[in-house]
Amino acid sequence: MEFFIDTADIEAIRELCSFLPIDGVTTNPTIITKSGKAPEQVFAELEEVLDEDQKIIAQVVATDYEGILAESRKIASLRGGKNVVVKIPVSREGLRAIPAVKSEGICVLATGIYSPDQAFWAAKAGADYLAPYVNRMCNYGDGVSQVIELVDTLATYGFDAKVCAASFKNVDQVHQLLAAGTPAVTVAPDVIRAMVDHPGTAIAVDEFTSNWRKTYGRSTLEA
Ligand code: E4P
Repeated sequence: MEFFIDTADIEAIRELCSFLPIDGVTTNPTIITKSGKAPEQVFAELEEVLDEDQKIIAQVVATDYEGILAESRKIASLRGGKNVVVKIPVSREGLRAIPAVKSEGICVLATGIYSPDQAFWAAKAGADYLAPYVNRMCNYGDGVSQVIELVDTLATYGFDAKVCAASFKNVDQVHQLLAAGTPAVTVAPDVIRAMVDHPGTAIAVDEFTSNWRKTYGRSTLEA
């Protein structure tokens, strides 16, 4: 499975990649505006901070067919095209553009998915990844269950598209999708930190160290 960080915060990417096997980074136009940097700078920093085997997943901003095509080519040329994925929203223009972008050998993630039915059409159009917005879907129903069902539907039809579940607001949403075998997720840094930093672990580690120090007068295995 693939686990991406959903951010353009370069320091957060550096921090999390320093101790977790992260498969890449996803951004969207809003995420990039929140960085306070020019998009060119964000892309240059992503290329610098990520290894070549970690994916850079960036979204088109144009909303018309020709613009989506042109921006897809531009994004796909980042880092010499190696492990770059272009995000295209599943608007009518986006669905029309997906097969054209795919025909140029560009890897596509269909984004802005609010329903399994939109995901179905994006898969049929040839998208490599499908990004259902789990938390936003929860405004309309049980987003988590709908995404789990989507994974099954794709398998039923033998579509190659992989679900890359996105838009998480808490650890439980991520947990439920991981437990169901979702092939990819993209998660914001604060939720990833909450997944790994359990207070019980810190208390347990302090207790081990304190008992060792009391007994042996040191905090390492050997003197
Ligand atoms: C993923 O790549 C999406 O763009 C992102 O997860 C959307 O998240 P949001 O619902 O927090 O905006």
